[in-house]
Amino acid sequence: MVNNMDTRCDLMLFGALGDLAQRKLFPALYQLERAKLLADGSRILAIARTEKDTTGVRKQLFEKLQKAIKPDQFEPSVAEAFLQRVDYQVLDFNDPEGFCQLNDWRDSDNNELIVYMATPPSMYGVIARNLRSAQCCTEKTRVVVEKPIGHDLESSKVINDELGEVYRESQLFRIDHYLGKETVQNLIALRFANNLFASQWDQNHISHVEITVAEAVGIEGRWGYFDKAGQIRDMIQNHLLQLLCLIAMDPPSDLSADSIRDEKVKVLKALRQITPDMMERYVVRGQYTAGTSAGQPVPGYLEEEGANRGSSTETFVALKAEIDNWRWSGVPFYIRTGKRLPEKLSQIIIHFKPAPHYIFDPDQKHLANNKLIIRLQPDEGMELKILTKDQGLDKGMRLRQGPLELTFSETFDAERIPDAYERLLWEVMKGNQYLFVRRDEVEHAWRWVDRVIRNWHDSGEPPKRYAAGTWGPVASIAMITRDGRSWYEDV
Ligand code: BG6
Repeated sequence: MVNNMDTRCDLMLFGALGDLAQRKLFPALYQLERAKLLADGSRILAIARTEKDTTGVRKQLFEKLQKAIKPDQFEPSVAEAFLQRVDYQVLDFNDPEGFCQLNDWRDSDNNELIVYMATPPSMYGVIARNLRSAQCCTEKTRVVVEKPIGHDLESSKVINDELGEVYRESQLFRIDHYLGKETVQNLIALRFANNLFASQWDQNHISHVEITVAEAVGIEGRWGYFDKAGQIRDMIQNHLLQLLCLIAMDPPSDLSADSIRDEKVKVLKALRQITPDMMERYVVRGQYTAGTSAGQPVPGYLEEEGANRGSSTETFVALKAEIDNWRWSGVPFYIRTGKRLPEKLSQIIIHFKPAPHYIFDPDQKHLANNKLIIRLQPDEGMELKILTKDQGLDKGMRLRQGPLELTFSETFDAERIPDAYERLLWEVMKGNQYLFVRRDEVEHAWRWVDRVIRNWHDSGEPPKRYAAGTWGPVASIAMITRDGRSWYEDV
C-alpha cells in the first residue's frame, strides 16, 4: 500500500456548500489538520454555484465547524490555520468555459489533484467532461464520488460509463462511508489476523448471522431524495451488503484493494436471487406511522414535511439473504435496517452453533451457543459471549453467559475514534483504494437488489406499517421466528 504522509494535494470540492460537505467533509478535513495529517502546501478549492467570496465562505465554515465539532476538540487556532487552505470558486457546473478558471488555481507542479464530487450523481458525468475539456485532469487525478451510484443497475451503468469515459477505474474512489468506520475495518483484522476465528468461520460452526443498522431519526428534511430511493436503495444496496461481504468473503491473498474487492464480488455473485414465490418468507417492507422518538411524539412518514401522502416508499426492510457457496451453504444472514426505530444501533451478531453434545442443566440449554457481537455504533467494539461456570458453592455446574469484551475507546486509550470520512479522505490522499467500492461491486449489488424491488412492484403490495419508535413491522419478527430464532435484542 502507498503511504505518502507528505503528499501535497489540491482538493477540488464540488458541492462545497451542500449538506454533506458542511456536515461531514469540512469537519473531517479539520480533524485531519488537527492531527497534522494534511501536508504543508495542501489546499482546498470549495466550489459551488452560489455567489460568495473566499472571505465569506471561510467565515461561514468557521461557524459551521464550531457547531459540528465537539467543544473539547475545537481549537480556534487550528480552525483558522485550516481555513487558510480554503479558497472559494463560484461555478456553474454546466458551463464548460467556467471550468478553465480552475486551472488558474491549480498548483500542478507540486500538488496531486483530487476531485471530490459531493453533488447529485446526475452531475458526475458533466463535471468529469468539463474538467477534461478544460484540461484540468491528469493520469494521476483521483476522483471521489458518493452514493447513490444510480437507482438501479441500468442507471448505475450510465453513471459509471460517464465517469469511465474520462477516468480509469484506478482513479475512481467510490465512497461507502460504512467502509471507513473503525469497527468495519477491524472486521478485516478480526477475521484474518486471528486463526481462532478464521478456523470457525463457516457453515460447520456458524448457525446464522444478524446485521442490524437501526436509526432513531426519520427523514430529516430529505423527503424528496428519500422517497425516490427508499430504505433498500439508500441502505441495503450499499452499506448493508458491504457489511455482509466483509463477513462472508474468503480470505484475500493480501491487503491490496483488488484482492479484497475480488473476494467481495464473489460473495455478491453467490447471493441467491430472491424470487417472487420467496418474497413472503424472505422479505419484509415497512413504513413508519406516527409514534414516539426519545419520548417525544413524532409524525409518520406520510406526514413529514414535503410528503406525498400516497407514497408507498419503504422506510424499513428486513430480509433473509442466503449465499450459495461451500462456506455459507445453509447459513442465513438476517438483515434489517430502518428509520425511526427505537435507537441508533448498528451491530453484527455471529451466532455459533452449539457444542455437539450438551451435558449441563437442561434448563440452560438455550444459552449453549457462543455469540460474537460486533458493535459498529454506538460504543464501537466487540464482545464474545462465552459460557463459564457460575461462582459460588451453591451454584454447582450452573452456567453463566459472560462477555470477553473489547471496547475500542477504553482499550486503545484513544482520545477519540475518527469519523469514517476522516479515514476515507486520508486514504484518498494516500491513494489507497481498498476502502472504496469498485464498479463491479456496485453493479452486482444492484442486480440483486433490483430483483427484490421488481418483485415488490409486481406484487403491488403496500409496505407494512410500524409505529415510530418500534422495531419495525411484526412481520419482521415473524420472519426470523419461523426459523426458530429471534433478533438479538428480543432475547
Ligand atoms: C446514508 C444514508 O448513506 O447513511 C442515510 O443516505 C443514513 O439515510 C446514513 O441516515 C446513516 O449513516 P450513519 O453513519 O449515521 O449510520
